[in-house]
Amino acid sequence: MSNSKIYLSSPHMGGTEQNYVNEAFETNWIAPLGPNVEGFEKDLENYLGIENHIAALSSGTAALHLALILLGVERGDEVLCQSMTFSASANPIVYQGATPIFVDSEPETWNICPIHLEEAIKSRIAKGKKPKAIIAVHLYGMPYKVDEIKKISEKYEIPIVEDSAEALGSTYKGQKCGTFGDISILSFNGNKIITTSGGGALVSRNLKHKEKAIFLATQARDAAPHYQHSEIGYNYRLSNISAGIGRGQMQVLDKHVGLRRKMNQFYHEIFQKAKGVKVFSEPTSDYFSNHWLSCILIDKKLCGFSSEDIRLAMAENNIESRPLWKPMHLQPVFRNAPYYGSTVSEKLFEIGLCLPSGSNLKVEEKVKINDVLIRFIDI
Ligand SMILES: Cc1ncc(COP(=O)(O)O)c(C=O)c1O
Repeated sequence: MSNSKIYLSSPHMGGTEQNYVNEAFETNWIAPLGPNVEGFEKDLENYLGIENHIAALSSGTAALHLALILLGVERGDEVLCQSMTFSASANPIVYQGATPIFVDSEPETWNICPIHLEEAIKSRIAKGKKPKAIIAVHLYGMPYKVDEIKKISEKYEIPIVEDSAEALGSTYKGQKCGTFGDISILSFNGNKIITTSGGGALVSRNLKHKEKAIFLATQARDAAPHYQHSEIGYNYRLSNISAGIGRGQMQVLDKHVGLRRKMNQFYHEIFQKAKGVKVFSEPTSDYFSNHWLSCILIDKKLCGFSSEDIRLAMAENNIESRPLWKPMHLQPVFRNAPYYGSTVSEKLFEIGLCLPSGSNLKVEEKVKINDVLIRFIDI
């Protein structure tokens, strides 16, 4: 049995990525931009279906930043954001000089709670400022309550930035995640369901959003033979080499979704008889998660062990596991940001654990994981 570390989620190449990268070398398209970038954007547009326009960018964080700029978020504005998420969902609000207003999760999908979202909107409007955007996240690949959140967005006319960084391949009522926001974003970071080693994308039904995102991502150069700028630009475009990796990865995306879902099934089987352990699953058949990461909730009173006990036992065996995302309203850096909600996300953080979920885990690695986990279960 191998002693090498088992990771939560590691890059998984399909085999054809190298061909696109080699072609870029052979044709000297090493500079940013080039045919792989447009090819990758087309592949993503075809995958997401309906009228989507994609700008391939250097990261999901860059895509979130540009999304806020396109929606007119400026210094002094307020932006609503799911509290339970990775910090990259919230940081771009601060890049713009705006204030994040954090909102609790609901217990079914662990994503932004419609009740607390509406409460937050009413409260901020009563205080004199209507929030400029809602950042909703499909955590661990689980779609948020799309219909409920959209209804609120329409009622108050506040656009949605859909953070689909973790949810490429997930669907809600048969429609792909990444197509629900006024602007949506994807991430191809090394730990995601497909990777370009680092990268992201901005998705919009509005072609003007794509064009403006590319303009801003390439240093906001005005149309002139010399370098002229009327706006502040960024260096946020994806490189032709990275996009080549992405083109190969698109060919195995559906396969990776299937394999991640199998990992989720693997944990269901391990814990099926364990009292007090719940494997995170879709609440109804409207939801289809790519199960980017499989997670469990542990009720120590019922089962006699905690998520930390499991984490330590896994670490002793060189297996990575990790607590769920620590909510942003509990983060020292956001201690002054307003928060609306109760303790749903705090409790999830306290009792939850992410388990190795990669599409490339070998049989012997799964045996090792099973051996460690099964010791906790009193059958
Ligand atoms: C929910 C969420 N949002 C945003 C990001 C940022 O993406 P990137 O790492 O590509 O900047 C990530 C992942 O890293 C994420 O998990």
